[in-house]
Amino acid sequence: MAAVELGLVGRTAVVAGASQGIGRAIASALAAEGMRVVMLARNEERLRAAAAAIAAANPDADVRAIPTDVTSAAAVTGAAAEVRTSHGQVHVLVCNAGNRMRPGRQITWSDEEWLGDLDAKLLGMLRVIRAFEGLLPDDGSGRIVNISGVAGSVIWDTALTHGMNNSAMNHATRYLATDLAPRRITVNAVIPGLIATEWRHDWARDSGERTGLTEAAFVDQVCRTKGILLGRWAESSEVADAVTFLASDRAAYITGTTLTVDGGLSVNAR
Ligand SMILES: NC(=O)c1ccc[n+]([C@@H]2O[C@H](COP(=O)([O-])OP(=O)(O)OC[C@H]3O[C@@H](n4cnc5c(N)ncnc54)[C@H](OP(=O)(O)O)[C@@H]3O)[C@@H](O)[C@H]2O)c1
Repeated sequence: MAAVELGLVGRTAVVAGASQGIGRAIASALAAEGMRVVMLARNEERLRAAAAAIAAANPDADVRAIPTDVTSAAAVTGAAAEVRTSHGQVHVLVCNAGNRMRPGRQITWSDEEWLGDLDAKLLGMLRVIRAFEGLLPDDGSGRIVNISGVAGSVIWDTALTHGMNNSAMNHATRYLATDLAPRRITVNAVIPGLIATEWRHDWARDSGERTGLTEAAFVDQVCRTKGILLGRWAESSEVADAVTFLASDRAAYITGTTLTVDGGLSVNAR
């Protein structure tokens, strides 16, 4: 059977929010495809450890870490200047940074709490695209992939601001696909459902303990109550696979759309 040629070898990717969870899986998948990968996140120690682990797993890969807070325009602009010097071009830009969900009725939150969530994810995406879009090539290989989330398509408790971020990101994705089409840059969003990241494991274990369930039994219960058709949560690598496809030459004619990776959750078959 012939392998599918993705055309990513030797190209450069920048992944914002790359030190753990979905972003780390994306950085790892793109490095495994032979891309030069630049990883951004705030916590320097964790970011450098993630970059070192990915480099160790892909001995030929060029993996770099630039500690960057996407809530700071100056920091994001500085990271883009550094990448311009070191790499010249960026073919694939992945906007994945965002705050984790935390419990509570978000309508009761302070302005600062609302703004904090929007600043990290929605405005963070805009800052990253504003700073890096000039580095994307105009030859049809330029890709922007935004990681939004299923809470922008369905109602998820504890996800008022997350849902606002995600649905606004999906809108911005269509807007920017139009804006950047003359430069042949595609812009798409991947919509993850329930993904087994490190913090989601903690959440499932702690929630299960509170209700007398094991982590696995709690996840099974969530899958049933949320109507996840495939009956399980996803590994971060399954989101990374969708990003890898959209980043590749195989997706050259796909722009302004969303690719949902939620096991059928948003079909809403409950
Ligand atoms: N996990 C899920 O079930 C799920 C479902 C749907 C959508 N999503 C979305 O997918 C994305 C990743 O989620 P995840 O679960 O993988 O989260 P995570 O494990 O908390 O990872 C988030 C990553 O973003 C970085 N980050 C956070 N704030 C940042 C900032 N201000 N500047 C730069 N980097 C920042 C974090 O590193 P530092 O903290 O060191 O900066 C970390 O590397 C998020 O946008 C989330 O909303 C997740």
